[in-house]
Amino acid sequence: MSNEKKRMTTASGAPVGDNQNSITAGERGPTLIQDVHFLEKMAHFDRERVPERVVHAKGAGAHGVFEVTNDEISKYTKADFLNEKGKQTPMFIRFSTVAGELGSADTVRDPRGFAVKFYTQEGNYDLVGNNTPIFFIRDAIKFPDFIHTQKRNPRTHLKDKNAVWDFWSYSPESLHQVTYLHGDRGIPATFRHMNGYGSHTFKWVNHNGEPVWVKYHFISDQGVKGLDVDLADELAGKNPDYHTEDLYNAIEKGDHPSWTLYVQIMPYDDAKDYKWDPFDVTKIWSHADYPLIEVGRMTLDRNPENYFTEVEQAALSPANLVPGIEASPDKMLQGRLFSYSDTQRYRIGANHQQLPINRPLNDANTSNYQFDGPMRYDNGSRSVHYEPNRYETAPKEDPETKINPFEIYGNADSVAYSQKDHYTQAGDLYRLMSTDEKDRLIQNVVDHMMKVDYDDIKLRQIEHFYKADPEYGERVAEGLGLKVPENVR
Ligand code: HEM
Repeated sequence: MSNEKKRMTTASGAPVGDNQNSITAGERGPTLIQDVHFLEKMAHFDRERVPERVVHAKGAGAHGVFEVTNDEISKYTKADFLNEKGKQTPMFIRFSTVAGELGSADTVRDPRGFAVKFYTQEGNYDLVGNNTPIFFIRDAIKFPDFIHTQKRNPRTHLKDKNAVWDFWSYSPESLHQVTYLHGDRGIPATFRHMNGYGSHTFKWVNHNGEPVWVKYHFISDQGVKGLDVDLADELAGKNPDYHTEDLYNAIEKGDHPSWTLYVQIMPYDDAKDYKWDPFDVTKIWSHADYPLIEVGRMTLDRNPENYFTEVEQAALSPANLVPGIEASPDKMLQGRLFSYSDTQRYRIGANHQQLPINRPLNDANTSNYQFDGPMRYDNGSRSVHYEPNRYETAPKEDPETKINPFEIYGNADSVAYSQKDHYTQAGDLYRLMSTDEKDRLIQNVVDHMMKVDYDDIKLRQIEHFYKADPEYGERVAEGLGLKVPENVR
Protein backbone atom coordinates (compact mmCIF):
# COMPACT_ATOMS: atom_id res chain seq x y z
CA MET A 1 0.00 0.00 0.00
CA SER A 2 1.43 3.42 -0.95
CA ASN A 3 1.95 6.05 1.73
CA GLU A 4 -0.29 8.45 -0.14
CA LYS A 5 -3.41 9.24 1.88
CA LYS A 6 -6.45 7.50 0.43
CA ARG A 7 -9.80 9.23 0.58
CA MET A 8 -12.72 7.15 1.86
CA THR A 9 -15.62 7.01 -0.57
CA THR A 10 -19.11 5.60 -0.96
CA ALA A 11 -19.53 2.68 -3.36
CA SER A 12 -20.34 5.18 -6.10
CA GLY A 13 -17.06 6.96 -5.45
CA ALA A 14 -18.20 10.09 -3.65
CA PRO A 15 -16.08 11.22 -0.67
CA VAL A 16 -17.36 10.35 2.81
CA GLY A 17 -17.43 13.31 5.20
CA ASP A 18 -18.15 11.54 8.50
CA ASN A 19 -18.00 7.79 9.09
CA GLN A 20 -18.49 7.98 12.88
CA ASN A 21 -21.62 10.10 13.38
CA SER A 22 -24.85 9.57 11.49
CA ILE A 23 -26.75 12.64 10.35
CA THR A 24 -29.59 13.43 12.75
CA ALA A 25 -32.29 16.09 12.81
CA GLY A 26 -30.77 18.13 15.59
CA GLU A 27 -28.36 16.77 18.19
CA ARG A 28 -30.99 14.48 19.77
CA GLY A 29 -33.26 14.02 16.78
CA PRO A 30 -33.93 10.92 14.64
CA THR A 31 -31.57 9.82 11.87
CA LEU A 32 -32.25 11.36 8.48
CA ILE A 33 -32.91 9.35 5.36
CA GLN A 34 -30.72 11.91 3.71
CA ASP A 35 -27.68 10.21 5.27
CA VAL A 36 -27.13 8.13 2.14
CA HIS A 37 -23.69 7.00 3.28
CA PHE A 38 -25.23 5.53 6.44
CA LEU A 39 -28.04 3.88 4.42
CA GLU A 40 -25.60 2.36 1.94
CA LYS A 41 -23.21 1.17 4.67
CA MET A 42 -26.01 -0.52 6.63
CA ALA A 43 -27.78 -1.94 3.58
CA HIS A 44 -24.54 -3.46 2.30
CA PHE A 45 -23.78 -4.93 5.71
CA ASP A 46 -27.27 -6.47 5.77
CA ARG A 47 -26.35 -8.34 2.60
CA GLU A 48 -22.82 -9.48 3.55
CA ARG A 49 -23.53 -13.19 3.67
CA VAL A 50 -24.24 -15.55 0.82
CA PRO A 51 -26.01 -18.76 1.91
CA GLU A 52 -23.53 -21.26 3.30
CA ARG A 53 -23.01 -24.45 1.29
CA VAL A 54 -25.88 -26.86 1.98
CA VAL A 55 -23.19 -29.46 2.80
CA HIS A 56 -19.44 -29.01 3.34
CA ALA A 57 -20.10 -25.52 4.76
CA LYS A 58 -16.99 -25.37 6.99
CA GLY A 59 -13.75 -25.41 5.08
CA ALA A 60 -10.35 -23.99 4.30
CA GLY A 61 -8.74 -23.29 0.94
CA ALA A 62 -5.29 -22.87 -0.54
CA HIS A 63 -3.64 -22.22 -3.90
CA GLY A 64 -0.92 -24.31 -5.42
CA VAL A 65 0.48 -25.98 -8.45
CA PHE A 66 0.11 -29.40 -10.03
CA GLU A 67 3.08 -30.86 -11.90
CA VAL A 68 3.03 -33.94 -14.13
CA THR A 69 5.72 -36.45 -13.14
CA ASN A 70 4.78 -39.26 -15.52
CA ASP A 71 3.59 -38.44 -19.03
CA GLU A 72 3.06 -42.16 -19.75
CA ILE A 73 -0.52 -41.57 -18.71
CA SER A 74 -1.12 -39.44 -21.80
CA LYS A 75 -1.59 -42.72 -23.62
CA TYR A 76 -4.84 -43.01 -21.65
CA THR A 77 -6.11 -39.42 -21.81
CA LYS A 78 -5.82 -36.51 -24.18
CA ALA A 79 -6.32 -34.07 -21.26
CA ASP A 80 -3.94 -31.26 -22.16
CA PHE A 81 -2.74 -30.56 -18.61
CA LEU A 82 -1.52 -34.15 -18.23
CA ASN A 83 0.25 -34.54 -21.56
CA GLU A 84 3.84 -33.62 -20.75
CA LYS A 85 6.26 -34.45 -17.96
CA GLY A 86 7.10 -31.28 -16.01
CA LYS A 87 3.97 -29.43 -17.15
CA GLN A 88 2.61 -27.21 -14.39
CA THR A 89 -1.00 -26.20 -13.88
CA PRO A 90 -2.17 -23.69 -11.26
CA MET A 91 -4.77 -25.14 -8.91
CA PHE A 92 -6.93 -24.32 -5.91
CA ILE A 93 -8.09 -26.74 -3.22
CA ARG A 94 -10.81 -26.57 -0.61
CA PHE A 95 -10.86 -28.97 2.35
CA SER A 96 -14.02 -29.26 4.41
CA THR A 97 -16.14 -31.23 6.83
CA VAL A 98 -19.52 -32.40 5.54
CA ALA A 99 -22.33 -32.04 8.04
CA GLY A 100 -21.48 -29.05 10.23
CA GLU A 101 -22.39 -25.42 9.67
CA LEU A 102 -19.97 -22.70 8.63
CA GLY A 103 -18.79 -22.05 12.21
CA SER A 104 -18.69 -25.69 13.35
CA ALA A 105 -15.69 -27.53 14.80
CA ASP A 106 -13.02 -28.99 12.52
CA THR A 107 -12.14 -32.04 14.61
CA VAL A 108 -15.40 -33.99 14.34
CA ARG A 109 -15.86 -37.51 12.99
CA ASP A 110 -16.97 -36.87 9.43
CA PRO A 111 -15.58 -37.42 5.95
CA ARG A 112 -13.43 -34.52 4.73
CA GLY A 113 -13.99 -32.83 1.40
CA PHE A 114 -10.98 -32.74 -0.91
CA ALA A 115 -12.06 -30.51 -3.80
CA VAL A 116 -9.49 -29.51 -6.40
CA LYS A 117 -9.84 -26.97 -9.20
CA PHE A 118 -7.20 -27.25 -11.95
CA TYR A 119 -6.99 -24.07 -14.07
CA THR A 120 -6.05 -25.81 -17.34
CA GLN A 121 -5.55 -24.28 -20.80
CA GLU A 122 -8.75 -26.06 -21.88
CA GLY A 123 -10.95 -24.81 -19.08
CA ASN A 124 -11.32 -25.59 -15.41
CA TYR A 125 -11.21 -29.21 -14.37
CA ASP A 126 -12.75 -29.80 -10.92
CA LEU A 127 -12.15 -33.04 -9.06
CA VAL A 128 -14.54 -32.76 -6.14
CA GLY A 129 -13.63 -35.70 -3.95
CA ASN A 130 -13.36 -36.74 -0.32
CA ASN A 131 -10.70 -38.24 1.93
CA THR A 132 -12.46 -41.60 1.54
CA PRO A 133 -12.37 -43.75 -1.61
CA ILE A 134 -16.04 -44.75 -1.15
CA PHE A 135 -19.36 -43.19 -0.16
CA PHE A 136 -22.41 -44.04 1.98
CA ILE A 137 -24.94 -44.44 -0.84
CA ARG A 138 -24.81 -45.20 -4.54
CA ASP A 139 -27.82 -43.45 -6.06
CA ALA A 140 -28.12 -39.65 -6.03
CA ILE A 141 -31.85 -39.87 -5.37
CA LYS A 142 -31.01 -40.89 -1.77
CA PHE A 143 -28.65 -37.96 -1.12
CA PRO A 144 -31.15 -35.38 0.26
CA ASP A 145 -32.53 -37.97 2.74
CA PHE A 146 -29.05 -39.06 3.75
CA ILE A 147 -27.96 -35.48 4.38
CA HIS A 148 -31.12 -34.72 6.37
CA THR A 149 -30.08 -37.48 8.81
CA GLN A 150 -26.64 -35.89 9.20
CA LYS A 151 -28.04 -32.41 9.82
CA ARG A 152 -30.31 -31.15 12.61
CA ASN A 153 -33.69 -32.61 13.58
CA PRO A 154 -36.36 -30.22 12.27
CA ARG A 155 -38.19 -30.17 15.63
CA THR A 156 -35.40 -30.13 18.21
CA HIS A 157 -32.72 -28.50 16.05
CA LEU A 158 -30.33 -31.04 17.58
CA LYS A 159 -28.13 -33.61 15.85
CA ASP A 160 -30.12 -36.83 15.76
CA LYS A 161 -28.39 -40.20 16.27
CA ASN A 162 -31.71 -42.02 15.78
CA ALA A 163 -32.00 -40.59 12.28
CA VAL A 164 -28.36 -41.35 11.43
CA TRP A 165 -28.50 -45.04 12.38
CA ASP A 166 -32.11 -45.55 11.24
CA PHE A 167 -31.08 -44.48 7.73
CA TRP A 168 -27.81 -46.45 7.73
CA SER A 169 -29.50 -49.59 9.06
CA TYR A 170 -31.97 -49.44 6.15
CA SER A 171 -29.17 -48.62 3.65
CA PRO A 172 -26.72 -51.51 3.99
CA GLU A 173 -24.67 -50.16 1.06
CA SER A 174 -23.40 -47.60 3.62
CA LEU A 175 -21.64 -50.27 5.75
CA HIS A 176 -18.26 -49.99 4.03
CA GLN A 177 -18.09 -46.21 4.50
CA VAL A 178 -19.57 -46.41 8.04
CA THR A 179 -16.71 -48.78 8.95
CA TYR A 180 -14.16 -46.49 7.30
CA LEU A 181 -15.60 -43.45 9.10
CA HIS A 182 -15.46 -45.01 12.56
CA GLY A 183 -11.87 -46.16 12.09
CA ASP A 184 -8.73 -44.09 12.61
CA ARG A 185 -9.19 -42.15 9.37
CA GLY A 186 -12.54 -40.79 10.58
CA ILE A 187 -10.84 -37.81 12.26
CA PRO A 188 -7.65 -36.79 10.44
CA ALA A 189 -4.81 -35.24 12.45
CA THR A 190 -4.76 -32.30 10.01
CA PHE A 191 -5.91 -31.65 6.45
CA ARG A 192 -2.28 -32.21 5.47
CA HIS A 193 -2.28 -35.73 6.90
CA MET A 194 -5.04 -37.27 4.82
CA ASN A 195 -5.34 -38.70 1.34
CA GLY A 196 -7.83 -37.48 -1.23
CA TYR A 197 -9.87 -39.62 -3.60
CA GLY A 198 -12.00 -38.87 -6.65
CA SER A 199 -14.09 -41.79 -5.29
CA HIS A 200 -16.19 -42.26 -8.43
CA THR A 201 -15.06 -43.98 -11.57
CA PHE A 202 -14.47 -41.52 -14.41
CA LYS A 203 -13.83 -42.10 -18.08
CA TRP A 204 -10.55 -41.09 -19.73
CA VAL A 205 -10.34 -40.86 -23.51
CA ASN A 206 -7.09 -40.64 -25.49
CA HIS A 207 -6.25 -38.93 -28.81
CA ASN A 208 -7.39 -42.01 -30.75
CA GLY A 209 -10.79 -41.88 -29.11
CA GLU A 210 -10.05 -44.98 -26.98
CA PRO A 211 -11.69 -44.94 -23.54
CA VAL A 212 -10.60 -46.44 -20.20
CA TRP A 213 -12.10 -46.20 -16.70
CA VAL A 214 -10.11 -44.36 -14.03
CA LYS A 215 -10.05 -43.77 -10.27
CA TYR A 216 -7.97 -41.02 -8.63
CA HIS A 217 -5.87 -41.26 -5.45
CA PHE A 218 -4.03 -38.27 -3.96
CA ILE A 219 -1.59 -39.79 -1.46
CA SER A 220 -0.38 -37.39 1.24
CA ASP A 221 3.39 -36.85 1.18
CA GLN A 222 3.06 -35.90 4.87
CA GLY A 223 1.75 -39.40 5.66
CA VAL A 224 -1.71 -40.34 6.92
CA LYS A 225 -2.41 -39.70 10.59
CA GLY A 226 -5.56 -39.81 12.68
CA LEU A 227 -6.41 -37.68 15.71
CA ASP A 228 -6.90 -39.19 19.15
CA VAL A 229 -10.64 -39.13 19.94
CA ASP A 230 -10.30 -37.44 23.34
CA LEU A 231 -7.96 -34.80 21.94
CA ALA A 232 -10.37 -34.22 19.05
CA ASP A 233 -13.23 -33.62 21.52
CA GLU A 234 -11.08 -31.25 23.55
CA LEU A 235 -9.95 -29.34 20.46
CA ALA A 236 -13.55 -29.05 19.20
CA GLY A 237 -14.19 -26.89 22.27
CA LYS A 238 -10.85 -25.14 22.68
CA ASN A 239 -9.94 -24.51 19.05
CA PRO A 240 -12.79 -25.31 16.65
CA ASP A 241 -10.68 -23.99 13.75
CA TYR A 242 -7.76 -26.31 14.49
CA HIS A 243 -7.44 -27.80 10.98
CA THR A 244 -7.99 -24.45 9.26
CA GLU A 245 -5.30 -22.88 11.42
CA ASP A 246 -2.85 -25.73 10.88
CA LEU A 247 -3.13 -25.46 7.09
CA TYR A 248 -2.83 -21.68 7.08
CA ASN A 249 0.19 -21.65 9.40
CA ALA A 250 2.02 -24.42 7.55
CA ILE A 251 1.71 -22.62 4.21
CA GLU A 252 2.49 -19.23 5.75
CA LYS A 253 5.77 -20.47 7.21
CA GLY A 254 6.80 -22.14 3.93
CA ASP A 255 6.11 -25.73 4.97
CA HIS A 256 4.22 -26.46 1.76
CA PRO A 257 2.13 -29.65 1.92
CA SER A 258 2.06 -31.90 -1.14
CA TRP A 259 0.23 -34.93 -2.47
CA THR A 260 1.26 -37.43 -5.15
CA LEU A 261 -1.53 -38.21 -7.58
CA TYR A 262 -1.94 -41.81 -8.69
CA VAL A 263 -4.63 -43.39 -10.85
CA GLN A 264 -6.01 -46.87 -11.24
CA ILE A 265 -6.79 -47.64 -14.87
CA MET A 266 -9.38 -50.25 -15.83
CA PRO A 267 -9.58 -51.37 -19.48
CA TYR A 268 -12.94 -50.32 -20.89
CA ASP A 269 -14.33 -53.80 -21.43
CA ASP A 270 -13.40 -55.04 -17.94
CA ALA A 271 -16.32 -53.01 -16.59
CA LYS A 272 -18.75 -55.51 -18.09
CA ASP A 273 -17.72 -58.41 -15.88
CA TYR A 274 -15.37 -57.13 -13.15
CA LYS A 275 -16.28 -58.76 -9.84
CA TRP A 276 -17.44 -55.39 -8.48
CA ASP A 277 -19.64 -52.96 -10.41
CA PRO A 278 -17.14 -50.17 -11.17
CA PHE A 279 -19.97 -47.62 -11.19
CA ASP A 280 -20.96 -48.41 -7.60
CA VAL A 281 -19.24 -45.75 -5.45
CA THR A 282 -19.63 -47.84 -2.28
CA LYS A 283 -16.96 -50.26 -3.58
CA ILE A 284 -13.24 -50.04 -4.32
CA TRP A 285 -11.18 -51.74 -7.02
CA SER A 286 -8.52 -54.10 -5.76
CA HIS A 287 -5.02 -52.62 -6.13
CA ALA A 288 -3.79 -56.06 -7.14
CA ASP A 289 -6.19 -56.01 -10.09
CA TYR A 290 -5.55 -52.37 -10.99
CA PRO A 291 -2.28 -51.07 -9.50
CA LEU A 292 -1.61 -47.41 -8.77
CA ILE A 293 0.13 -45.48 -11.56
CA GLU A 294 1.85 -42.22 -10.67
CA VAL A 295 0.66 -39.10 -12.48
CA GLY A 296 2.02 -36.01 -10.74
CA ARG A 297 2.43 -33.91 -7.62
CA MET A 298 0.23 -31.20 -6.16
CA THR A 299 1.89 -28.66 -3.85
CA LEU A 300 0.05 -26.00 -1.87
CA ASP A 301 2.17 -22.86 -1.64
CA ARG A 302 -0.13 -19.86 -1.20
CA ASN A 303 -2.84 -18.87 1.24
CA PRO A 304 -5.89 -16.96 -0.01
CA GLU A 305 -5.66 -13.18 0.36
CA ASN A 306 -9.34 -13.02 1.19
CA TYR A 307 -11.46 -15.83 2.59
CA PHE A 308 -14.80 -14.69 1.22
CA THR A 309 -13.79 -14.01 -2.37
CA GLU A 310 -11.49 -17.00 -2.75
CA VAL A 311 -12.93 -19.73 -0.51
CA GLU A 312 -16.57 -18.90 0.24
CA GLN A 313 -17.28 -17.92 -3.36
CA ALA A 314 -15.30 -20.79 -4.84
CA ALA A 315 -17.61 -22.96 -6.93
CA LEU A 316 -16.26 -26.48 -7.45
CA SER A 317 -18.41 -28.75 -9.56
CA PRO A 318 -18.02 -32.32 -10.86
CA ALA A 319 -19.62 -30.97 -14.06
CA ASN A 320 -16.46 -28.96 -14.79
CA LEU A 321 -14.67 -31.46 -17.02
CA VAL A 322 -12.12 -30.99 -19.81
CA PRO A 323 -11.57 -32.88 -23.10
CA GLY A 324 -10.16 -36.33 -22.32
CA ILE A 325 -12.00 -36.64 -18.98
CA GLU A 326 -15.67 -37.62 -18.94
CA ALA A 327 -18.36 -38.82 -16.56
CA SER A 328 -19.11 -42.51 -16.04
CA PRO A 329 -22.64 -43.91 -15.59
CA ASP A 330 -22.15 -43.96 -11.77
CA LYS A 331 -25.63 -42.86 -10.56
CA MET A 332 -24.18 -40.70 -7.79
CA LEU A 333 -21.85 -38.91 -10.16
CA GLN A 334 -24.69 -38.39 -12.63
CA GLY A 335 -26.75 -36.66 -9.91
CA ARG A 336 -23.78 -34.54 -8.86
CA LEU A 337 -23.33 -33.30 -12.43
CA PHE A 338 -26.58 -31.38 -11.90
CA SER A 339 -26.54 -30.56 -8.19
CA TYR A 340 -23.35 -28.50 -7.79
CA SER A 341 -23.78 -25.96 -10.57
CA ASP A 342 -27.46 -25.73 -9.65
CA THR A 343 -26.71 -24.88 -6.00
CA GLN A 344 -23.97 -22.47 -7.07
CA ARG A 345 -26.35 -20.55 -9.33
CA TYR A 346 -28.55 -20.13 -6.25
CA ARG A 347 -25.80 -19.72 -3.63
CA ILE A 348 -23.59 -17.27 -5.51
CA GLY A 349 -25.42 -16.34 -8.72
CA ALA A 350 -25.88 -17.23 -12.37
CA ASN A 351 -22.60 -15.56 -13.30
CA HIS A 352 -20.47 -17.11 -10.53
CA GLN A 353 -18.01 -18.44 -13.13
CA GLN A 354 -16.94 -14.85 -13.86
CA LEU A 355 -15.57 -14.34 -10.35
CA PRO A 356 -11.76 -14.36 -10.25
CA ILE A 357 -11.55 -17.61 -8.21
CA ASN A 358 -13.80 -19.44 -10.70
CA ARG A 359 -12.88 -17.72 -13.95
CA PRO A 360 -11.07 -20.08 -16.33
CA LEU A 361 -7.69 -19.14 -17.83
CA ASN A 362 -9.09 -19.41 -21.36
CA ASP A 363 -11.58 -16.61 -20.71
CA ALA A 364 -14.64 -18.69 -21.55
CA ASN A 365 -16.93 -15.76 -20.87
CA THR A 366 -16.13 -14.14 -24.16
CA SER A 367 -16.23 -17.45 -26.04
CA ASN A 368 -19.87 -18.45 -25.81
CA TYR A 369 -23.33 -17.00 -26.28
CA GLN A 370 -24.41 -16.77 -22.64
CA PHE A 371 -25.08 -13.11 -21.97
CA ASP A 372 -26.36 -10.80 -19.23
CA GLY A 373 -27.91 -11.81 -15.89
CA PRO A 374 -27.25 -10.47 -12.37
CA MET A 375 -23.76 -9.06 -11.73
CA ARG A 376 -22.58 -9.79 -15.28
CA TYR A 377 -19.68 -7.45 -15.95
CA ASP A 378 -18.11 -8.93 -19.05
CA ASN A 379 -20.10 -9.83 -22.15
CA GLY A 380 -17.09 -9.50 -24.42
CA SER A 381 -17.09 -6.79 -27.04
CA ARG A 382 -19.11 -8.76 -29.60
CA SER A 383 -22.54 -7.81 -30.80
CA VAL A 384 -23.31 -11.34 -32.03
CA HIS A 385 -25.31 -13.15 -29.36
CA TYR A 386 -26.62 -16.12 -31.30
CA GLU A 387 -25.27 -19.15 -33.11
CA PRO A 388 -25.06 -20.36 -35.89
CA ASN A 389 -24.02 -17.11 -37.51
CA ARG A 390 -22.15 -15.77 -40.55
CA TYR A 391 -19.27 -14.22 -38.57
CA GLU A 392 -15.92 -15.96 -38.99
CA THR A 393 -14.43 -14.57 -35.78
CA ALA A 394 -17.40 -15.43 -33.56
CA PRO A 395 -16.85 -18.56 -31.37
CA LYS A 396 -17.49 -21.87 -33.13
CA GLU A 397 -17.97 -25.39 -31.76
CA ASP A 398 -15.08 -27.86 -31.99
CA PRO A 399 -16.26 -31.34 -33.05
CA GLU A 400 -12.89 -32.78 -31.92
CA THR A 401 -14.04 -32.29 -28.33
CA LYS A 402 -17.38 -34.10 -28.60
CA ILE A 403 -17.90 -36.79 -25.95
CA ASN A 404 -16.81 -40.32 -26.52
CA PRO A 405 -19.98 -42.19 -27.55
CA PHE A 406 -21.01 -45.18 -25.46
CA GLU A 407 -23.61 -47.85 -25.94
CA ILE A 408 -26.83 -47.98 -23.96
CA TYR A 409 -28.99 -51.05 -23.41
CA GLY A 410 -32.02 -52.09 -21.35
CA ASN A 411 -35.30 -50.41 -20.46
CA ALA A 412 -35.77 -46.93 -19.04
CA ASP A 413 -36.75 -47.81 -15.47
CA SER A 414 -35.95 -47.20 -11.78
CA VAL A 415 -33.64 -50.14 -11.15
CA ALA A 416 -31.43 -50.91 -8.18
CA TYR A 417 -27.79 -51.90 -8.67
CA SER A 418 -27.82 -55.65 -9.17
CA GLN A 419 -24.95 -56.31 -6.74
CA LYS A 420 -26.27 -56.80 -3.21
CA ASP A 421 -23.03 -57.82 -1.49
CA HIS A 422 -22.49 -54.97 0.95
CA TYR A 423 -20.53 -57.17 3.32
CA THR A 424 -17.38 -58.57 1.71
CA GLN A 425 -15.51 -55.26 1.27
CA ALA A 426 -16.67 -53.90 4.65
CA GLY A 427 -15.54 -57.16 6.28
CA ASP A 428 -12.20 -57.03 4.44
CA LEU A 429 -11.62 -53.52 5.79
CA TYR A 430 -12.38 -54.76 9.32
CA ARG A 431 -10.07 -57.76 8.96
CA LEU A 432 -7.29 -55.56 7.61
CA MET A 433 -7.18 -53.59 10.87
CA SER A 434 -4.71 -54.34 13.66
CA THR A 435 -6.08 -55.45 17.03
CA ASP A 436 -5.72 -51.90 18.37
CA GLU A 437 -7.44 -50.41 15.36
CA LYS A 438 -10.32 -52.86 15.74
CA ASP A 439 -10.63 -51.94 19.44
CA ARG A 440 -10.86 -48.25 18.57
CA LEU A 441 -13.35 -48.91 15.75
CA ILE A 442 -15.66 -50.90 18.03
CA GLN A 443 -15.39 -48.27 20.76
CA ASN A 444 -16.22 -45.47 18.33
CA VAL A 445 -19.22 -47.34 16.91
CA VAL A 446 -20.51 -48.27 20.37
CA ASP A 447 -20.08 -44.72 21.70
CA HIS A 448 -21.99 -43.39 18.72
CA MET A 449 -24.77 -46.01 18.71
CA MET A 450 -25.22 -45.86 22.49
CA LYS A 451 -27.18 -42.65 22.00
CA VAL A 452 -29.76 -44.36 19.76
CA ASP A 453 -33.11 -44.72 21.55
CA TYR A 454 -34.56 -47.69 19.67
CA ASP A 455 -33.36 -51.30 19.91
CA ASP A 456 -34.78 -52.23 16.49
CA ILE A 457 -32.38 -49.76 14.86
CA LYS A 458 -29.43 -51.10 16.84
CA LEU A 459 -30.30 -54.73 16.08
CA ARG A 460 -30.77 -54.07 12.37
CA GLN A 461 -27.35 -52.43 12.26
CA ILE A 462 -25.72 -55.18 14.35
CA GLU A 463 -26.97 -57.64 11.73
CA HIS A 464 -25.00 -55.75 9.06
CA PHE A 465 -21.82 -55.69 11.16
CA TYR A 466 -22.24 -59.42 11.84
CA LYS A 467 -22.65 -60.21 8.15
CA ALA A 468 -19.46 -58.28 7.39
CA ASP A 469 -17.60 -60.25 10.06
CA PRO A 470 -19.23 -62.23 12.91
CA GLU A 471 -16.65 -60.89 15.38
CA TYR A 472 -17.45 -57.29 14.35
CA GLY A 473 -21.18 -57.89 14.99
CA GLU A 474 -20.65 -59.75 18.26
CA ARG A 475 -18.38 -57.06 19.67
CA VAL A 476 -20.69 -54.17 18.80
CA ALA A 477 -23.67 -56.09 20.23
CA GLU A 478 -21.76 -56.77 23.43
CA GLY A 479 -20.72 -53.13 23.74
CA LEU A 480 -24.36 -52.10 23.45
CA GLY A 481 -25.53 -54.72 25.97
CA LEU A 482 -27.44 -56.61 23.23
CA LYS A 483 -27.20 -59.99 21.49
CA VAL A 484 -26.83 -60.74 17.79
CA PRO A 485 -30.34 -61.92 16.76
CA GLU A 486 -30.58 -65.74 16.47
CA ASN A 487 -31.96 -65.64 12.90
CA VAL A 488 -28.83 -63.83 11.73
CA ARG A 489 -26.26 -66.31 13.04
C1 HEM B 1 -25.56 -37.44 -5.22
C2 HEM B 1 -24.65 -37.20 -4.34
C3 HEM B 1 -24.21 -35.82 -3.95
C4 HEM B 1 -24.84 -34.63 -4.07
C5 HEM B 1 -26.20 -34.36 -4.65
C6 HEM B 1 -23.95 -33.62 -3.54
C7 HEM B 1 -24.25 -32.27 -3.44
C8 HEM B 1 -23.40 -31.30 -2.96
C9 HEM B 1 -23.72 -29.90 -2.89
C10 HEM B 1 -25.04 -29.29 -3.29
C11 HEM B 1 -22.64 -29.27 -2.41
C12 HEM B 1 -22.47 -27.77 -2.16
C13 HEM B 1 -21.73 -27.15 -3.31
C14 HEM B 1 -21.59 -25.67 -3.20
O1 HEM B 1 -22.43 -25.02 -2.55
O2 HEM B 1 -20.66 -25.11 -3.80
C15 HEM B 1 -21.62 -30.26 -2.19
C16 HEM B 1 -20.36 -30.01 -1.74
C17 HEM B 1 -19.36 -30.94 -1.74
N1 HEM B 1 -19.47 -32.29 -2.02
FE1 HEM B 1 -21.11 -33.25 -2.56
N2 HEM B 1 -22.79 -34.22 -3.11
C18 HEM B 1 -22.91 -35.57 -3.36
C19 HEM B 1 -21.97 -36.53 -3.12
C20 HEM B 1 -20.66 -36.28 -2.89
C21 HEM B 1 -19.59 -37.24 -3.00
C22 HEM B 1 -19.76 -38.70 -3.39
C23 HEM B 1 -18.44 -36.56 -2.73
C24 HEM B 1 -17.04 -37.06 -2.72
C25 HEM B 1 -16.62 -38.07 -3.43
C26 HEM B 1 -18.79 -35.17 -2.45
C27 HEM B 1 -17.89 -34.17 -2.15
C28 HEM B 1 -18.23 -32.85 -1.95
C29 HEM B 1 -17.27 -31.84 -1.60
C30 HEM B 1 -15.78 -32.03 -1.41
C31 HEM B 1 -17.97 -30.64 -1.47
C32 HEM B 1 -17.40 -29.28 -1.10
C33 HEM B 1 -16.91 -28.56 -2.33
C34 HEM B 1 -16.23 -27.28 -1.93
O3 HEM B 1 -15.24 -27.36 -1.19
O4 HEM B 1 -16.70 -26.20 -2.33
N3 HEM B 1 -20.13 -35.05 -2.56
N4 HEM B 1 -22.12 -31.51 -2.52
